[in-house]
Amino acid sequence: MKTKDIVLRELERNRANYISGQELAERLNISRTAIWKAINSLKESGFQIESQTKLGYKLVESDDKLSDEGIRKGLRDELKDIDIVIYDEIDSTNTEAKRRLYSSDVKDFTVIVADMQKGGRGRTGKSFTSPKGSGVYFSIILHPKDSYDFSYFDLTTVKAAVAVAEGIRESIGKQAEIKWVNDLFLKGKKICGILSELDADFESRSVKSVIVGIGINVNKPKDDSFKDLKDIAGYIGTDVIRNEILSSVLNAFYENNYVKSDQEIIDYYKKHSIVIGRDLSFVLNGKKYSAKGVDINDKGNLIVDTGSERLTLSSGEVSIKGDFYKKG
Ligand code: BTN
Repeated sequence: MKTKDIVLRELERNRANYISGQELAERLNISRTAIWKAINSLKESGFQIESQTKLGYKLVESDDKLSDEGIRKGLRDELKDIDIVIYDEIDSTNTEAKRRLYSSDVKDFTVIVADMQKGGRGRTGKSFTSPKGSGVYFSIILHPKDSYDFSYFDLTTVKAAVAVAEGIRESIGKQAEIKWVNDLFLKGKKICGILSELDADFESRSVKSVIVGIGINVNKPKDDSFKDLKDIAGYIGTDVIRNEILSSVLNAFYENNYVKSDQEIIDYYKKHSIVIGRDLSFVLNGKKYSAKGVDINDKGNLIVDTGSERLTLSSGEVSIKGDFYKKG
């Protein structure tokens, strides 16, 4: 661990309270000059640290820079030893996850986080706008321990959507709604998208790794990158720092993947679904349909009623009819 990371860890543990340079130096068994250099380097990389003669240094309470220590601080015990890799800027955390899977040993539940993505990827080849300093974009890499058939992973995205809704609720107190299959909405605007990808061996039909990519729009972007998306894209709007939101979502992600039953997850998903009971439109095999959302089955598939037949949708996109998106 670099000196600057150890100093940051101490500041994070005492967030919003001063620690003197002398105390830091003694605790970490390094010189005060080394502390001073580390503080300067942290400030240069964007951490808001205040210095006061006699009092020492403190990490400002509202400092919203993503950090390993800041995320780790809120993690449940089972996740204390996971690897977390943070980028100020990257093409896409899902793409980076794939690169790492092909080039090195990656621990189960490794999390790759970025403050900004230049090539954020969405579903069906779309891009995912990921502006700097306002959202949190991350990918979780899982290595399933047993060999499952592909269908076992049907619920992967459903579990992730429930985890994000629960994590946001836990950290911020707002209840997001889920739009099948993997979007989260607040006040009629999309605040989160999820892209799950499998690294699979087709011959043996086994899945080596699962990459779950999640992008959450936390605060209003500092630039106008949502300009063309303003009817659709929203943000949560909160004082809660992104490290804390991310830890809550990771904790809930663990809970949904390893603790809760599938039935509990589906029940939550249905309870907070915004497509059940709504008039929807979608395209299936090149044909346009209008239908009412009826139910979500135990595989996370959407059941719709067209008036003449019931259809089960296992993938794709549905649009909600009416003025739903104007609510915000
Ligand atoms: C969608 O809404 O279509 C899915 C968007 C998924 C975005 C996340 S952000 C982190 C991860 N990296 C990516 O490039 N995409 C996912």
